[in-house]
Amino acid sequence: MKDFFLFLGKFFKHGTAIASLAPSSPWLSRTTVRNIPWESARVVVELGAGTGPITRVIADRVHPDCRVVVLERDPDFARLLRERFAHRANFDVVEGDVRDLTEILKQRGIEQVDFVVSGLPVPSFPKPLQRDLFRVVKQVLAPSGTFNQITEMPWVYQRFYRRFFDEVTFVFEPRNLPPAGAYFCRGVKESF
Ligand SMILES: C[S@@+](CC[C@H](N)C(=O)[O-])C[C@H]1O[C@@H](n2cnc3c(N)ncnc32)[C@H](O)[C@@H]1O
Repeated sequence: MKDFFLFLGKFFKHGTAIASLAPSSPWLSRTTVRNIPWESARVVVELGAGTGPITRVIADRVHPDCRVVVLERDPDFARLLRERFAHRANFDVVEGDVRDLTEILKQRGIEQVDFVVSGLPVPSFPKPLQRDLFRVVKQVLAPSGTFNQITEMPWVYQRFYRRFFDEVTFVFEPRNLPPAGAYFCRGVKESF
């Protein structure tokens, strides 16, 4: 409940930068990472982690040799994420903006990422920021990797993500409130 009220307060204060009334449910969180092969994944990046419901699922499943970089712009959420996950040797909780993702990964010596998991409100981003985000994803995401994106608007943004990726599939998660889902995107296009 504490997470719910913190999240709700942020939504009323920041609106589209949060884009949701409540943290993702455990069902949506599990759906969002369901394609990740935990035994072999060695670098996972989570963007816009909020209070950390998806981070929790990653933490429960990830191999100890897998590096996990968790990025969150809001200072209160970032503090909470540090309290909850920074004690894990393979977790790196970063307070920062996705605009600086290239630099953040470079500083950590990360050149390639196996999976990018995003809770970011990407369709609400200004167009230049959308392009910057997908350019970085193109630079760092392994060819076999995916960009996994939560949504509370099932199916609506399928065409939007197809502008940036060769392959986009959607998995519906009816148990979230509101019903939601995740896009699984592979192969960032050459130009967009
Ligand atoms: C819809 S919430 C998702 C939170 C969480 N992943 C979940 O599933 O409950 C979006 C999150 O993205 C963060 N965010 C928005 N814009 C960002 C940016 N430019 N860089 C980093 N984080 C950002 C917000 O602060 C917020 O925590």
